[in-house]
Amino acid sequence: MKTFEKLKAQLNHDLMPVHVAVIMDGNGRWAKKKGAGRLFGHKSGARSVRAIVEASVEIGIKYLTVYAFSTENWSRPESEVKGLLNLILNSLIEEIEELSENNIRVSFIGSDKNISTDYSEKVKKECEKTKDNTGLNFIVAMNYGGKIELLDAVKKMIPDIKKGNITADNLTEATFESHLYTTDIPDPDLLIRTSGEIRLSNFLIWQSAYAELYFTDILWPDFDKVAFLEAILEYQNRKRRFGGI
Ligand code: FPP
Repeated sequence: MKTFEKLKAQLNHDLMPVHVAVIMDGNGRWAKKKGAGRLFGHKSGARSVRAIVEASVEIGIKYLTVYAFSTENWSRPESEVKGLLNLILNSLIEEIEELSENNIRVSFIGSDKNISTDYSEKVKKECEKTKDNTGLNFIVAMNYGGKIELLDAVKKMIPDIKKGNITADNLTEATFESHLYTTDIPDPDLLIRTSGEIRLSNFLIWQSAYAELYFTDILWPDFDKVAFLEAILEYQNRKRRFGGI
């Protein structure tokens, strides 16, 4: 039987992905299979988040980003949206102490649009508690959309463009990247998506230009530490060329 410890022993510590990003998909289908409501699926999905955070700490991943709520998720029924927003905030509040004890630094990335000031303030207050931690960087993509992130980056550059500080001649990828939500976060090396869907769904579209993509049929609430290590081991078997030969 594959166990976490056995798979962990197979890891090549020279080939660890620095940043793993995850599209947590399949909560609704998982719940439906069990004859339960969608929110039950999301709550069970939160347990998988805990499991992969633990696994990331145990194997020394430096950055883990999870796609918790997308800018497109607002189109879901109001009760599901409310339930998801509450689940994300309450999980953060409940777990923050333990996360911090494990030297985890928590941050949120995403758009401010449609998020109440009260919600943002609460998130900020919790994340602040972990700001000096130096272990795993756990990043929650919340009200996140890759296209709006790119537009926001352009909007942030406009004052400098107007002043002539940013010009067509001096604008580089590095300058552009410094205006993304992910400033100071390295690009993902490995991007995992569960539930059998094979697309990026507007997640880290700029940053994933060279990410290794890993798709599994496992529904998110069933995705555990063993499944996470299997993804990392598969990543370690890939040859990354970054456009070279
Ligand atoms: C996709 O499944 C999942 C989401 C949109 C939400 C993921 C959120 C959590 C797991 C909540 C916990 C998060 C944190 C950070 C504590 P889906 O609803 O699209 O499933 P379906 O495709 O089967 O309908």
